Amino acid sequence: MLVAQISDCHLRDADSTKGPWTGIVDSSATLAAVVEHLNGLDPGPDVVLVTGDLTDDGTPEELARFREVVEPLVAPLAVLPGNHEHAPAFREAFADLLPDDLPEGHCSHVVEGHPVRLVGIDTTKVGFHDACFDDDRAVWLDSTLAAEPERPTLVFTHFPPFAVGLDYMDTSGLAGRSRFEAVIAAHPQVALVAAGHLHRPIHTIFGGAPASVCPSTAFQLELDLDPRRGGAVAEPPGFQLHRWDGVRFVTHTGMVHECTRLDITAYVDDVRRRVETGVGFPKA
Ligand SMILES: [Fe+2]
Ligand SMILES: [Fe+2]
Repeated sequence: MLVAQISDCHLRDADSTKGPWTGIVDSSATLAAVVEHLNGLDPGPDVVLVTGDLTDDGTPEELARFREVVEPLVAPLAVLPGNHEHAPAFREAFADLLPDDLPEGHCSHVVEGHPVRLVGIDTTKVGFHDACFDDDRAVWLDSTLAAEPERPTLVFTHFPPFAVGLDYMDTSGLAGRSRFEAVIAAHPQVALVAAGHLHRPIHTIFGGAPASVCPSTAFQLELDLDPRRGGAVAEPPGFQLHRWDGVRFVTHTGMVHECTRLDITAYVDDVRRRVETGVGFPKA
């Protein structure tokens, strides 16, 4: 099973002239490029997770623009809001993808129908840019995971539930991280925790499970761990591809940009021939 993840698309109004990236990064164009890239993968993803900050301001217009840009995606979408969305507009824009029985106050939900159970936990707070894994979320996630203890599970969310060393993001992010970690640790069927929000590919272990952060499809945060500085950089748009092989997830990070490509199909053919004939790989 292949689970693609895109995040932090930060779409703006189609004709927007606002924002620091105007004339530098066209977030609609970068998202469209990622969509085209995902559609070109063979094998392609079975599902595409969207882990929040789909838009800059969360307006119905921006959400509609997001849906327009991702419309060509072949694989089905599963969506969670980020801190740049507003719950009512988000619920309305994705009513067809969200269950009718969403919990009160958050958009957490389960996506079934795949070899891996996909559990989305929404920690956003109405009216705030920071987030909280509070009692409600803890009870919801614990009971949701407890309902299917034998099924391999991917937990997806917007805010990474761990500090990463980008001080300004760590201190403005999620409250209740240790509570979140205790819930994950209590459910060893969790094979991956996949987050967004940090606009960088990042990996760690969380509650005994592998955990990853997806880059943005728009712009990245500079890899600079000096707590006195911060930068946003027009590094290429990215996505992650989480490959489930029946035992574990392996996460690939893809960047989408123009670059020189050397065709090494002859080498691939030679490797296959050496494996099939048992010649092996002796040095010349
Ligand atoms: Fe973001
Ligand atoms: Fe965010």
